[in-house]
Amino acid sequence: MENIRSGKPPLPTRLLHGGDYNPDQWLDCPEVLEEDIVLMKKAHVNCVSLGIFAWSRLEPEEGRFDFDWLEKIMDNLYENGIYTILATPTGAMPHWLTDTYEEVNKVNKEGKRRIHGQRHNFCPSSPVMRERTRAIDTALSRRFGHHPGLLAWHLSNEYGGDGDWTDCHCPHCQANFRKWLQNRYGTLDNLNHAWWSGFWSNVVTSWEQIHSPVTYGEMTLHGLKLDWKRFVSEQMLDFCKAEADAVRTYSDAPVTINMMGPFDPLNYFQWAKELDIVSEDSYPFWHSQEDPLDPAVMAAFRYSLIRSLKKQPFLLMESVTSAVNWHPRCTLKRPGVHELSSLQAVAHGSNSVQYFQWRKSRGGSEKFHGAVVDHRNGENTRVFREVAHLGQRLEGLSDKVMKTCNRPRAAIVFDWENRWAAEDAQAIVNPLNFLEKWMPWFRPFWEQGVDVDIVDMDCGLEGYSLVVAPLNYMYRGDYAQRVRAFVEGGGTYVTSYWSGEVDEHDLCFLGHHPLSDVLGIRTEDIDVRPVNMENEVIWGKKRYPVMDLCAIVHPEGAQVLAEYARDFYAGFPALTRHSFGRGTAYFAAAECGGEFLGDLVKLVTEESGNTCALCSALPRGVTVTERKGGEGSLFFLQNFNPEPAAVILGKACLDAETGDTVTGAITLTPYECRILENGKEGESAREK
Ligand code: GLA
Ligand code: ZN
Repeated sequence: MENIRSGKPPLPTRLLHGGDYNPDQWLDCPEVLEEDIVLMKKAHVNCVSLGIFAWSRLEPEEGRFDFDWLEKIMDNLYENGIYTILATPTGAMPHWLTDTYEEVNKVNKEGKRRIHGQRHNFCPSSPVMRERTRAIDTALSRRFGHHPGLLAWHLSNEYGGDGDWTDCHCPHCQANFRKWLQNRYGTLDNLNHAWWSGFWSNVVTSWEQIHSPVTYGEMTLHGLKLDWKRFVSEQMLDFCKAEADAVRTYSDAPVTINMMGPFDPLNYFQWAKELDIVSEDSYPFWHSQEDPLDPAVMAAFRYSLIRSLKKQPFLLMESVTSAVNWHPRCTLKRPGVHELSSLQAVAHGSNSVQYFQWRKSRGGSEKFHGAVVDHRNGENTRVFREVAHLGQRLEGLSDKVMKTCNRPRAAIVFDWENRWAAEDAQAIVNPLNFLEKWMPWFRPFWEQGVDVDIVDMDCGLEGYSLVVAPLNYMYRGDYAQRVRAFVEGGGTYVTSYWSGEVDEHDLCFLGHHPLSDVLGIRTEDIDVRPVNMENEVIWGKKRYPVMDLCAIVHPEGAQVLAEYARDFYAGFPALTRHSFGRGTAYFAAAECGGEFLGDLVKLVTEESGNTCALCSALPRGVTVTERKGGEGSLFFLQNFNPEPAAVILGKACLDAETGDTVTGAITLTPYECRILENGKEGESAREK
């Protein structure tokens, strides 16, 4: 463990294994704390996250800090080779704070203010909350900033994660929103134009008239709602930055937050810029969805998204060893699934496997949530054995994995602002669940073993040969120009129905689709398939069912690859292809099912040189994810089926753990993750 922090490395230097640890709940049970250390060693745990909700123990009354117990715990962990990711405790406020200062409690969109209780619910604008946060965070930094066991800072917990109470509508937030708008627009004329406020008499004549969208006020002005969402994300980020500044006062340890995949209220692409490492909390619905592969695909998307935020490895900050306590059905992970699902995160770029939680709490709302250690059995459980086995495996893999990261040359566009605007458009289908319509575009990449980055409209497109942009309803900034340059320069671009409709103010484009020249089409209308009328798309010899959305477009230079079979737009293009500069642009007009998207993805990955580097075809439920490094690649071959699966390797590899040569046809056992490497072979080939 000695070298985990030699000098001041910005990031952990080995694979981490551990999780949220709450000794603060057991301070009067020394035998439990002793047992924790013994069991952590047996489970190959090398790090814990401490103090996440410990505010009332760390500062029992305003201004009186009690850190001695924490220091003792951290010292003891460190002496036993276990490092600490130390949290700031703002995830849950103590009574003295919520009861004394009403303003720290959020006001919801019905105008109701919270009282004490639950968590993730402070007002990010409250001066008192800012002040008390700065005080405790700075004190923690002073006391622990140079502790040899400190690995990183974990700011707060799942910022904003409180369902209906995510945004705060209190007077402080209203004032900040108005300031934010003044800064963005400068003049009311600009604001009125951007919001198209002549509609329904919404013209604003003084900044004071502006109010956040609330149920008893304005809820339909798209420009206002979009700006409010931007503000809510930025205001919480401002709070997070203040916490980061405070912990950095006396410490240079890296700063992270635990994110929640595509969590709607916070634009994580913006957030990631302020953090040293990004982390993810992941609780897939294993065994409880109709299609058993859905949870695997969703988890793959979330990990790809989080990794792509910084294009660096991330930490899997939270996951569960078996069952959570909050899914509609809290089914246990079947034997083997824990190891597979944890290695899935590593495959997609995680440099850790961490759990919520180390030990089940005795009381409180999560006493039945899965943990490494249960209420009664110590190490003598299936879960503990599986965790310990995985820990050992991670130790063995650490050196190789830490030298690698995923470096895909294909990207899919997922943009927070686009999603906010699309879901608020009041058109096509109401309500529109953006993610539901978007996910089918990700799935074929997973099925075909092609790793992708997830990018938003601000990300550079350099370095990619394929960019897929489903439901790009809003084009922000210079996105259209950059796509044009990307295709001109030789890239393959694929976009779809419900794209290029509005600009960044949510104002409709006039004249033509901003990429009509690149796509070689004119867009006219969009239909939602009548419920009692089937339609099909004919593409070569195949026919595919039409789901909901049917854009009606006219070719203007593009080649028509597929067309509608029926209805008044029979014969109109359903899929077009257009050469532009040195590249190619596709437009999918029809929303078809998985088979259509599978065939489309096969076509464009082949054309752009992005096919799976290990296998030319994969059986259902098996995928490959590649982490690249200077010495070659690691291939994570994962079988999400409860049955064995036969796979044919396209090249000879070595098993990264045993060193055995692996070639040709192999069989994966149920839920197996096999890790192969081709580094040595690649090296010697280059030397020749
Ligand atoms: C979230 C929180 C944890 C815990 C888990 C339970 O991820 O961050 O504190 O509540 O959920 O699954
Ligand atoms: Zn507020």
